[in-house]
Amino acid sequence: MNILAINGSHRAGKGTAALLNAVLESAGHQGATCELIELSHLDIRFCSGCNACLGRNRCAMHDDMDLLYDKMMRADGIVLGSPVYFGTVSARMKNFMDRTRPLHMVDNALAGKVAGMVTCAGLPDCGCQGALAAMDHFFATHEMLVVHPRPLGPVTGDGVAATQLSRFNEAGDPEWRSVKDDENAFKCARRLGHDMFNLIARLS
Ligand SMILES: Cc1cc2nc3c(=O)[nH]c(=O)nc-3n(C[C@H](O)[C@H](O)[C@H](O)COP(=O)(O)O)c2cc1C
Repeated sequence: MNILAINGSHRAGKGTAALLNAVLESAGHQGATCELIELSHLDIRFCSGCNACLGRNRCAMHDDMDLLYDKMMRADGIVLGSPVYFGTVSARMKNFMDRTRPLHMVDNALAGKVAGMVTCAGLPDCGCQGALAAMDHFFATHEMLVVHPRPLGPVTGDGVAATQLSRFNEAGDPEWRSVKDDENAFKCARRLGHDMFNLIARLS
């Protein structure tokens, strides 16, 4: 079983990557073979809007997306991670999404694969839902099966979203923390890896 994580953060190895690694560690612990791809390490040009993919399942451009098309096709599960930028995904993640159009226009080449998403933000109520919804919609367009994790115990949220705000102090100033201190988010991320593994196992 192969699970591929794709990080749309411009900052490799930071908050979003930490969340994705928690998903992969959990799935890997159960036996999945996992890989994390940092989009910021790849050379991926903007979709040019040429529409060549209306009639063929490969992009007219050739760059590091070629590698990703193959990896996505081989994966049983794909988890996307993006920081929240102005209430939605980063431009790097959005361009990656656009460049997957060749896998969607002739037929839905990714249909039936299992999916999940995580996001990382500065503030708890400032756009996490928008970023998660953008990735959810992306997966729906590709006809993929999206896992919405629900850890045991009290409900703490409705998606894997880690935030850096710790609290506002007595003076009203924000105090910041590492996203790694957002225990609920990491608990939810581990549950996502667990649930993705189990759904893929049940389907195979
Ligand atoms: C251009 C820009 C826009 C941002 N927009 C938001 C936002 O709308 N809401 C929010 O809570 N945080 C916002 N942030 C903060 C990032 O989401 C946050 O720093 C995130 O943890 C970065 O993830 P990373 O560690 O993977 O880079 C923004 C940051 C940048 C640089």
